[in-house]
Amino acid sequence: MAHWNRRSVVSVGLAAPSLSAAGYADNAHGVAIAAARLRRPLNTSAEDPILELVRLATLAANSHNTQPWLFERTPTGIAILPDVARRCPAVDPDDHHVFATLGCAAENIAIAAPSLGRAAEVVFEAEAKRVNIVLTSGASSTHPLVDAIPRRQCTRSVYDGRLIPTEQLALLEAAGAVEGVDMRLFTERAMIDRIRDTVIDANRAQMQDQAFISELRAWIRFNERSALATRDGLFAACSGNATLPDWLAGLLFPIV
Ligand SMILES: Cc1cc2nc3c(=O)[nH]c(=O)nc-3n(C[C@H](O)[C@H](O)[C@H](O)COP(=O)(O)O)c2cc1C
Repeated sequence: MAHWNRRSVVSVGLAAPSLSAAGYADNAHGVAIAAARLRRPLNTSAEDPILELVRLATLAANSHNTQPWLFERTPTGIAILPDVARRCPAVDPDDHHVFATLGCAAENIAIAAPSLGRAAEVVFEAEAKRVNIVLTSGASSTHPLVDAIPRRQCTRSVYDGRLIPTEQLALLEAAGAVEGVDMRLFTERAMIDRIRDTVIDANRAQMQDQAFISELRAWIRFNERSALATRDGLFAACSGNATLPDWLAGLLFPIV
């Protein structure tokens, strides 16, 4: 049975250039090209709509950008399975990030499918540990979030401090009002500060854990060249850090 992931459904077609100064410029250009290819909008007349849905699914948020999913074409649609080779045992010993990630990918398929004339029924098969998505033809509508899929990205930039308008908070609250979800909004400064301090304490504790540090380091891509070579992991520049050659990053990472 053939399995797909992001790296197999989006061909980037770039050889990793050398480490010369020109190589670095090529690599930065290469990252820009790869990102543009990856994040092109949904093609509603794609030759293979199933493959196009898988491409959109692989744009979902996912733990450590490990992309721990495998997609399979089934007689009725698409199955999503965990890619156990991409588990993070230190930070996610019970695999709940892996399965939340499969849910994020399934959600993207459910949002995109109507634009390709299909309705998606998503079922988590707990015993088989897979998500089964049955696609039926006949639907013809456009989900309001379909255009957001290729544009959505996490940011770790410094928050600009602007207050979130009350009507947007209400939208968030409404989006979270589903069975099994307990949604709480914290808007009071004192409570926000307490949560911030708890997060900082938790982060400090995590940084004492050698297994966590080694695992995190293995998933950081310190420069464009390694980001392009692996097409996964956490690109240092996305966290506001300078890009560094791997040898220098190896020396600095334990210190910083
Ligand atoms: C289950 C799960 C847990 C995540 N945990 C964190 C986290 O602790 N810190 C963080 O900065 N991002 C976290 N993320 C965001 C991912 O790092 C991000 O989705 C991934 O790097 C892909 O980048 P993108 O969302 O910009 O496409 C998490 C995402 C998921 C789905």
